[in-house]
Amino acid sequence: MKRKHILLSAVLFPAVMAFAQQYGGMWIPTELNEKEMKDLGMKISAKQIFDPSKPSIKDAVVQFNGGCTAEIISPQGLLLTNHHCGYGQIQKHSTVKNDYLTDGFWAKDMNGELPNPGVTVDFIADIKEVTAEVLAGTKNLDEKSSENLIAKNIENVKSGFKLEPWQKLVIKPVYYGNKYYAYLIETYKDIRLVGAPPSSIGKFGSDTDNWVWPRHTGDFSMFRIYADKDNKPAEYSKDNVPYKPKYFLPVSLKDKQEDDFTFVFGFPGRTTEYLPAIAVEQVMKETDPAMIAVREVALKTLNEKMRADNETRIKYASKYASVANYWKKWIGEVEGLEKSDAVGKKKSYEQSLIAKNPQIKPTIDGLNSLYKEQSPYALNKAYYTETVRNAETFTLANYFYNYLQAAESGKLDEKTTENFKTRLAGIYQNYDGELDAKVTAQLLALYANKTQPKFLPEGFDRYKNEAQNISAIEELSKNSVITGRGNINGATTYSDINKVFADQNALVANLKKDPLMKLFSSFRESYMNTTDKQFTDLQDQIDVLQKKFMAQQMETDKNRTFFPDANSTLRVTYGKVKGSNPRDAVYYGYQTHIAGIMEKYVPGDYEFDVPKKLVQLYNTKDYGIYKDKTGDVPVNFTATNHTTGGNSGSPTLDANGNLIGLNFDRQWEGTMSDINFDPRFSRNIMVDTKYILFIIDKYADAKWLINEMKIVK
Ligand code: ARG
Ligand code: ASP
Repeated sequence: MKRKHILLSAVLFPAVMAFAQQYGGMWIPTELNEKEMKDLGMKISAKQIFDPSKPSIKDAVVQFNGGCTAEIISPQGLLLTNHHCGYGQIQKHSTVKNDYLTDGFWAKDMNGELPNPGVTVDFIADIKEVTAEVLAGTKNLDEKSSENLIAKNIENVKSGFKLEPWQKLVIKPVYYGNKYYAYLIETYKDIRLVGAPPSSIGKFGSDTDNWVWPRHTGDFSMFRIYADKDNKPAEYSKDNVPYKPKYFLPVSLKDKQEDDFTFVFGFPGRTTEYLPAIAVEQVMKETDPAMIAVREVALKTLNEKMRADNETRIKYASKYASVANYWKKWIGEVEGLEKSDAVGKKKSYEQSLIAKNPQIKPTIDGLNSLYKEQSPYALNKAYYTETVRNAETFTLANYFYNYLQAAESGKLDEKTTENFKTRLAGIYQNYDGELDAKVTAQLLALYANKTQPKFLPEGFDRYKNEAQNISAIEELSKNSVITGRGNINGATTYSDINKVFADQNALVANLKKDPLMKLFSSFRESYMNTTDKQFTDLQDQIDVLQKKFMAQQMETDKNRTFFPDANSTLRVTYGKVKGSNPRDAVYYGYQTHIAGIMEKYVPGDYEFDVPKKLVQLYNTKDYGIYKDKTGDVPVNFTATNHTTGGNSGSPTLDANGNLIGLNFDRQWEGTMSDINFDPRFSRNIMVDTKYILFIIDKYADAKWLINEMKIVK
């Protein structure tokens, strides 16, 4: 019986995948494939998901602090997002004594919620296609004139909208400039931390389990939106009141079944699904491996000190997680591209397009030769940008370089200086100069050894040896303002950043003779001269052809329903609750349980420790209403939704629009979905709402939060 079932699904699978969704898909919420969604099981209408004039689900979905997604789950503006999305805020409120990262944080009531100046959430009030207006009159123009006219048209469209002070209008291209959409955005600014589990729940499995299924992470945290007394956005004030949303999501406690319909609503950041084969090959063979190599070196050195020293652990926690995150993702991406034969498939797709429309051949030929020409520059760009990003000495030097440039060209106004100071202070707050000197020395050596000789700045031959670099960097940093050690008028950037910047002339004069600045300037200027300009010129030409290639794909492949690549705007993706068969004889179930946490449990381990109280709840099976039909509490589950970075914190909803999960990751075997979604391997990973409520109720004893929500049983 079982066997027949498997065979049957193997036969049916390709049929199901002939839907629009076979290529994945992140759809603009005003243009949903309602019929297909209903065929897959959806019970609500597309209007209930997005309606600019009536409360709809979109009124409960926000972009969290410009990156992640979050959703409103109570009539009092309670927000749910990932632990890793709120991580920076949790970290900022943490000290060695009050270590919320380690122990978790739960406000006892609204008065105990913690403000986070600078954190914002964005609502999308409306979406309008404005292609005709933006592209008006551009048809027969050359590239440059067309660009200018588009910029002018965009300003015109914008001035046609009447905006409230808290609103803004953003116009973004999709399909590489073949279409344009306008987004009406409302920003709230008083966002307070309500609760977060300890990292041993919220980040359980940490970097070892990151991007991996089966997974057991309670990756959630809670915030609340506050508004002024008229329910409008306002800067933080203790007089602000909880925001009353137009709509909030009911939270479901129903059991899940494989093949249940689901959709994910959020802000996916960036995908490139329509690149030519040659571009994918370049990512796979050149740029991804280069970026992986740089980060590997940085991570190893940071990790050694973080494991040995608690203060460093806290200081570098957020940074380390973010460096490790994409390092690991790229490794999975390369493997997945190989395994799904992305390049081979793209090549035959290109041939099939050419067969239908011979005019596509010159476009593809053109792209091939441009990408070939760009390849060495792309590789050096990867090495350079990753080196500057991961060697903080260079990151800091880069900021000061920009400051110096602005000062010397007379472009320095007060606001720029203030922004710059804030940014610097943020870096210094979590900076360990000695540790970073080591990382910088190693990355400099890697660059000097790996980059092609024609890109190596003059004199950089001497930086090929790590050990020698350490003393060289130490010598250069010793008296440098950049690393916070050199002093101006008796102050350093550590002791009194305002004083250092108060005397602009002294600072500029000091920077101009700073030996570390000299080293960085030659690094940067050589990169700009030998690589950046060449790369960008070629990229501009590639963009022109890619726009054409995109239009040609859409005109020629009539059987395919196209969706625009992700661009950090609001999208809907849908699919089914599903496990997968990632390798021969390996089958992944779609759901994990608390028993699986205990299987991974390593007492005292920095990744796999489990809090005592959770162990206790497990031992006594005190699961209340949160267990499923197996008697255990479900922790994470997977589905075929096409998600990417930025979808973290996105709500996963069921056929009726109830919240069933919180998106936070994808499985390793499918991370190439940003470039080549493959329905066989690509799965998104979510925290089950049952586990979230279980932790809030049974672990944190924060029933007051559950009482705010509307629970669907
Ligand atoms: N991989 C997920 C995403 O890209 C989760 C990252 C946070 N977790 C971590 N261990 N770094 O953002
Ligand atoms: N973890 C990602 C995020 O932070 C989601 C993903 O890449 O699947 O947005």
